[in-house]
Amino acid sequence: MRVIRSLTVGASLAIALAGCKAGGDNPGLEYAPNMYHSVPYDPLTQITDKDAGWWLTSIDYSDGHAEFYNSNPFNPHAMNMRVPPPNTVKRGHLPYRIPKDSIEFADRLVNPLDSTAAIVAQGKALYMKYCNHCHGPQGKGDGPVADKYAGVANLTSDALKGISEGHIFHVITHGKGLMWAHGSQVSPEDRWKIAKFVKTLK
Ligand code: HEC
Repeated sequence: MRVIRSLTVGASLAIALAGCKAGGDNPGLEYAPNMYHSVPYDPLTQITDKDAGWWLTSIDYSDGHAEFYNSNPFNPHAMNMRVPPPNTVKRGHLPYRIPKDSIEFADRLVNPLDSTAAIVAQGKALYMKYCNHCHGPQGKGDGPVADKYAGVANLTSDALKGISEGHIFHVITHGKGLMWAHGSQVSPEDRWKIAKFVKTLK
């Protein structure tokens, strides 16, 4: 009895540990692999290995590929995602993932927009809409509600005049101290325009 028990325990351990040799392209033993591998075409995964998942295949290994192969043979490079048509204008940005308390990373971000007069003028219009009532037209912290909303920063003070455009973008996105976040009201592109304008304040 005891022998059988230790054999069972030993075999289970061996099976469990056999799944642990993951690394590189090898995910190790996967429990319920259909949860990880999309059978339909999935724009963000492309499994090019025709044998991937052969041991699971119950359906169509006969047509030359196993369960997880999901490349789209009709697209260039068999990609699942389509290449945008020529002359597509790049819109939007990747989601901003720098967390609120990591402003030192944001300091190093580079504004993707050019410093043209048009961009600065658009930044000014947005600033007048979203920031002026607290920070005031010259950024001195003397906007119309500043006497009610205590502690509004003077953006031209010695402490703040050196901040980077990434820093300003981050503060608009997440807020800081007494200032609320504006990330839900102002699009990323508009935040960069405002940052350009704020840097022109003297
Ligand atoms: C409701 C008032 C209010 C509005 C609206 C507001 N701010 Fe602020 N802002 C503050 C206050 C208050 C502080 C000081 C925060 C602190 O240090 O506690 C501040 C601080 C800042 C700072 C300095 C951050 C730092 O590193 O110390 C920047 C830059 C800034 N705001 C930019 C903006 C921009 C750009 C806008 C418009 C998108 C804006 N703010 C809108 C109240 C406001």
